[in-house]
Amino acid sequence: MRLLIKNIRTLAGILPAETLCLRGKEMASARSIDGAYLVADDGIITRFGPMDEMGEVVADEVVDAEGRVVFPAFCDSHSHIVYAGSREGEFRDKIAGMTYEEVAARGGGILNSADRLAEASEEELFEAAERRAWRMIRTGAATLEIKSGYGLTTESELKMLRVIGRLQKALPATIKATFLGAHAVGRAYKGRQSDYVDYVCNEMIPAVAEQGVAEFVDVFCDRGFFTPEETAKILECGKRYGLRPKIHANELASSGGVQVGIEYGALSVDHLEEATEQDVRDLAASNTIPTVLPGASFFSNLPFAPARMMIDAGLPVAIASDCNPGSSPSGNMKMLWSLACIKMRLSPEEALSGLTINGAAALGLSADRGAISVGRRADLVVSKPVPSLAYLPYSFGEELVEHTIIGGKIV
Ligand code: NIG
Ligand code: FE
Repeated sequence: MRLLIKNIRTLAGILPAETLCLRGKEMASARSIDGAYLVADDGIITRFGPMDEMGEVVADEVVDAEGRVVFPAFCDSHSHIVYAGSREGEFRDKIAGMTYEEVAARGGGILNSADRLAEASEEELFEAAERRAWRMIRTGAATLEIKSGYGLTTESELKMLRVIGRLQKALPATIKATFLGAHAVGRAYKGRQSDYVDYVCNEMIPAVAEQGVAEFVDVFCDRGFFTPEETAKILECGKRYGLRPKIHANELASSGGVQVGIEYGALSVDHLEEATEQDVRDLAASNTIPTVLPGASFFSNLPFAPARMMIDAGLPVAIASDCNPGSSPSGNMKMLWSLACIKMRLSPEEALSGLTINGAAALGLSADRGAISVGRRADLVVSKPVPSLAYLPYSFGEELVEHTIIGGKIV
């Protein structure tokens, strides 16, 4: 099966095949070609270049991208899209002045979603998550990470992970599953946080590993949630069972999450709204990828993570949606592109690297996706007609994805 995309106004996000992530200044270094074509065979990019070098190409499917920009599909490395119900009541409370922590302290927030999830059938959860995932695919994502974490009992955490397993089979996107049992202390363990940590380590993790339903282990390491010591215990245990750490840190306070993540070899530490200069220095001396979530800052009215400082310090910043019912109920990566430019002062090209190659790296998948290179997967976005690449984040809120192509097929 051969796909040809021709007459592309700008083909963006071109990188050498061996590049696995872009650090610091390199985030602005992906090449682009104005007036380009691209060929994919059986889902893999086999050729691309300027139109005047295309010659005769016979293809099964031809897309005429006249006036359109083509770029690597988004890799959303952090989401929580398996959930029941919604939380617009808390949205009202936050508008009226309550903080995220106050909502959580009165038993709302994550526990509110856990109550609803416990009542929902697997089928209901699957259907709702499938709709959300399709919306994310139609707005340009081809790779998604999805977390558990609204179960908070072994049974409900496994239910969530089974739903993610069904999504992996039902959707054309690549989906990675993360176990987040330590998202909050389950209601049955109220006031007994260290017993809950033992429950996560002694019951949940062995069950998750035995059923082979997750690849990563996550902890909400932050003020009012789990401490660095508790996080260390859970990551240590997760690693013993073959789960790779990838954690929530420093959303509400610089609380040692970055350092514990680095110490346990986390693939990424995510959120970082409250990251300090010391956190940035520690990340610079590690292989852990900082992932920023501008949708959570926007929706929850938090500071934006200091992504500009991180890039200036040479870090490989990834950008993800955090799509979840409490702090960021949107999986629209193009909106995050705008927010990263406007609120974090990234150039359109830097932000695109964060949303593609570095997002793929934050899932350990960047060898075969996240950029335009011969040999990488043909996971691509074809925009609607636009004057330039920068028009995409500039025109915030305007839906400009015409096609999402996954594995060389228009989905
Ligand atoms: O990444 N910060 C922790 N977890 C989610 C929010 C979960 C929720 O409020 O439902 C987040 O923002
Ligand atoms: Fe999150």
